[in-house]
Amino acid sequence: MVGDGGRSADSAGAAEDPLAGRRPAGRAAAAGSAGSAGSAGRFVGRSALVTGGSSGIGLATAHRLVREGAAVLIVGRRPDKVSDAVGELRVVAAEVAEACGREPAQVIGASLDVTDEESVRVAADAAARMGRRLDICVAAAGIDGAAQNALDLSVDDFRAVLDVNVMGLFITARAAAERMAADGEGGAIVLVASVNGLIAEPEFADYNTSKGGAVMLARSLARDLAARGIRVNALCPGYTRTPMTEAYLADPETRETILARIPLGRAADPDEIATVAAFLCSDDASYVTGSVIVADGGWLA
Ligand SMILES: NC(=O)c1ccc[n+]([C@@H]2O[C@H](COP(=O)([O-])OP(=O)(O)OC[C@H]3O[C@@H](n4cnc5c(N)ncnc54)[C@H](OP(=O)(O)O)[C@@H]3O)[C@@H](O)[C@H]2O)c1
Repeated sequence: MVGDGGRSADSAGAAEDPLAGRRPAGRAAAAGSAGSAGSAGRFVGRSALVTGGSSGIGLATAHRLVREGAAVLIVGRRPDKVSDAVGELRVVAAEVAEACGREPAQVIGASLDVTDEESVRVAADAAARMGRRLDICVAAAGIDGAAQNALDLSVDDFRAVLDVNVMGLFITARAAAERMAADGEGGAIVLVASVNGLIAEPEFADYNTSKGGAVMLARSLARDLAARGIRVNALCPGYTRTPMTEAYLADPETRETILARIPLGRAADPDEIATVAAFLCSDDASYVTGSVIVADGGWLA
């Protein structure tokens, strides 16, 4: 774990809610706090686990959650990147806390591999301990495909992509769901898939297959976890400017091919994906589960 010396998250106020029988009580109570803090407070008093939180879409999502009051535990592989991300997120937490007149939400980092079941379980438990329980899980850890024709793709390469992008998501979502179920009051899980889970990009059989798996995993988990009040959705970004796509977008020819497919004519900024992830994590999406939400600049239109 990277530094867990920050302060505990604010606890949500216990507002009475006439819909309490239909919505999990914890969500309703926290929504009351959000109202008093304005749009900066949708996640005040909540704890989140964000895998892939040291880079790109995961880091942008962690920023969103922290800005709106959540205590966040980010997961990445490389310790230096995790440590840097924790540092920048703590600055945000302190700024927001000062602006809103509340204690800074806690930010912790963990350097681990999402395919390691025990490490992920420990991280989910640690995220829950930052507050009252685990409320949110965003599974954004993922790797790119080998960018090769299927005939040239080795079995080992194919398996490696499935291992992180499907098994890693399953391990993360299940650890989070177990924690949420044990804590009671439901929760929200977002699996970061891709438009490649809905359309096959040439020379990406490994990645396309893994993202198709991520989409169906989200839908399957939504069915299995609904009775526990846990919502699960798949988020399918199109091309987004992150370290994963840096090389593609830097190459003029590849960049032109990519942008020609996108009606908005540009790649997304990671924050444009993070806003959608934050929506799915929030009570604004209280009736959204098992959905596949696309944010792709119109690519699939
Ligand atoms: N960028 C896009 O255009 C785009 C579009 C659609 C979907 N997506 C998906 O969005 C997710 C995030 O991608 P990104 O673009 O933000 O990529 P990124 O900047 O490369 O970030 C990937 C993150 O995942 C972590 N990670 C990778 N493998 C891991 C493992 N085995 N265990 C723990 N952490 C691991 C990385 O940690 P390290 O850096 O330490 O390895 C990093 O924090 C991925 O699932 C990706 O497939 C991206």
